[in-house]
Amino acid sequence: MTARHRVVVFASGRGSNFAALIEAQRRGELPIDIVALLSDKPAAPALALARAAGVEAVALSPREYASREDFDRAIFARAAQFAPDLIVLAGYMRIIDPAVVERWRGRMINIHPSLLPKYPGLHTHARAIQSGDAEHGASVHFVTPELDGGPVIAQVRLPIFASDTAESLARRLLSLEHRLLVAATRLVASGEIALDDNRVVRNGKPLAATLHLGADGELG
Ligand code: GRF
Repeated sequence: MTARHRVVVFASGRGSNFAALIEAQRRGELPIDIVALLSDKPAAPALALARAAGVEAVALSPREYASREDFDRAIFARAAQFAPDLIVLAGYMRIIDPAVVERWRGRMINIHPSLLPKYPGLHTHARAIQSGDAEHGASVHFVTPELDGGPVIAQVRLPIFASDTAESLARRLLSLEHRLLVAATRLVASGEIALDDNRVVRNGKPLAATLHLGADGELG
């Protein structure tokens, strides 16, 4: 029986993706130990969710650091104190210093609300609607120094309706994100999915195509 992966989650806001991980762990559907929630926003609601779940919640304020790099080094050094096997960025709204990212290469994933490589960065739902796309979605990828640019592990897709606003689309996508993040985290934590150089491998073999979340909640 391999030891359960120790996972540290980073969040800057609401924390619904974090909550989805906690719930999956609690239901026995995600064999990991979420050992801490870190945030760059001392008032982030995610911190209260963590405390309610009995997970250590740590917030560092960027204002207390001389530079962005100093803050990034400090919050990731704090994360390292929990000896994580995996870091999950779940609504962590900071661009992280490349040197810090490199230290966690292959051990850090992020969920981003677009069908990468389309729409890295912000306002993805509005951009998809404005572009007239027929569908939108979310991606879980390994984090590399390029913003939202790391190798994609898995995606979920949903149709864009003519009546959609950025808000309605984001709301419909969010519940799918939760299932995507749980499924992708499970595969990475088990070691089935890993980063080899700059490619996603599954059981040691290059992943032929990005995994997709099916209606059954499975990745295939
Ligand atoms: C999610 O849509 C995630 O994809 C994006 O920010 C949002 C975070 O939501 N990066 P929450 O804090 O997990 O509820």
